[in-house]
Amino acid sequence: MPNYSDIRKKLKVNVSKPEQTELAHLTHFLQTIDNGAKRYFEKEAQNYVLSLQGSESIVEEPWYQGYLPLKWDVPFPPPENPTFKFIDLFAGIGGFRLAFQNLGGKCVFSSEWNHFAQQTYEANFGEVPFGDITKIDEKEIPSHDILVAGFPCQPFSIAGVSKKNALGKKHGFLDETQGTLFFDVARILKLKRPKSFLLENVKNLVSHDKGNTFKVILGTLKELGYNVHFKVLDGKYYVPQHRERIVIVGFDKDVYNGEESFEFPKMPENPPLVVEDILERNVSEKYTLSEKLWNYLQTYAKKHKAKGNGFGFGLVEMDSITRTLSARYYKDGSEILIPQEGKNPRRLIPKECARLQGYPDDFQIPVSDTQAYKQFGNSVVTSLMQDVGKQILKVIQTK
Ligand SMILES: C[S@@+](CC[C@H](N)C(=O)[O-])C[C@H]1O[C@@H](n2cnc3c(N)ncnc32)[C@H](O)[C@@H]1O
Repeated sequence: MPNYSDIRKKLKVNVSKPEQTELAHLTHFLQTIDNGAKRYFEKEAQNYVLSLQGSESIVEEPWYQGYLPLKWDVPFPPPENPTFKFIDLFAGIGGFRLAFQNLGGKCVFSSEWNHFAQQTYEANFGEVPFGDITKIDEKEIPSHDILVAGFPCQPFSIAGVSKKNALGKKHGFLDETQGTLFFDVARILKLKRPKSFLLENVKNLVSHDKGNTFKVILGTLKELGYNVHFKVLDGKYYVPQHRERIVIVGFDKDVYNGEESFEFPKMPENPPLVVEDILERNVSEKYTLSEKLWNYLQTYAKKHKAKGNGFGFGLVEMDSITRTLSARYYKDGSEILIPQEGKNPRRLIPKECARLQGYPDDFQIPVSDTQAYKQFGNSVVTSLMQDVGKQILKVIQTK
């Protein structure tokens, strides 16, 4: 039985730069070899293999016979008997993939353009995501039951309705979103019509541009024929981190008539974990703040306190929870600092960041610390998203 790790070596699945689309095709093909979605990736995958090995080397029929039955020796292999299909957009390092695979889902397509994030994704799931979503034709995406997307949180402005009105043009909400990454989500929903979707973003999306951005997003989703539910959820009920995110869930009205009984998961009374629960005992000295940086942070904080701006850094209390881990954590780590006896405080190590986002300890981190901080800071509290997914499945698996 061939192992993925051997095939990976033989077929040079080595993500070293952005947009190695051939590797995305090959790994997507291997992941879907036992289902109908494979036809979306087969031709390009075969071309790639032929370009490496030449046609004479392929003696068996079909050409991929030598890779069967494939043993997925990666930390998070696809489920053996999946009960639903999903796609993972703006996939990052796969926080959603982890959650939805745990629920029995089969991922049939992923997209993430950052090649460092792709490295982490491939090391854990055995799949290289496709790159820039704006360049992907929605017809190239396999059918799926749930579309999942944590689209980037950089605030994006949506062209004003009034401007187009002034030009006397007729338009819909979808039109309004052209040029934004949300538009890419919308065009995929429009063509592929999954039964449900789960979108996630920063809490501020709701108030961005005086509420206009969120209004257009909801309007677009409704215009596409989806019944929409949304709520701000805090990761602190799953991990010791205060992390509020807007979660938007929708169901196809053609299937559910807008009558699905969906409920967001109920949160317990109190956060179940405290910071101390996720800390490593022996941590390298390199994570302790230098005298220079610690002095700088304290002086900076004092200055701001004097101005009434509150503290600049977040020294955590061991029996409490942390502030929100951000993608900027690699810069100075100031939002979450761990006090140490007789020493300057230290930053979290990447493994602790993983735990703070609900990742299990066998999640592989093949990249530098800087990249790892960015990746976990951008990610989701996977355990929380898994519970949201569970609630979605209660609806879609009954009809
Ligand atoms: C907020 S993060 C989502 C992280 C993800 N939910 C996870 O669990 O790791 C958004 C991701 O979208 C990616 N991204 C931004 N623009 C993109 C594009 N045009 N095509 C594909 N990915 C993109 C970024 O590199 C980033 O990793």
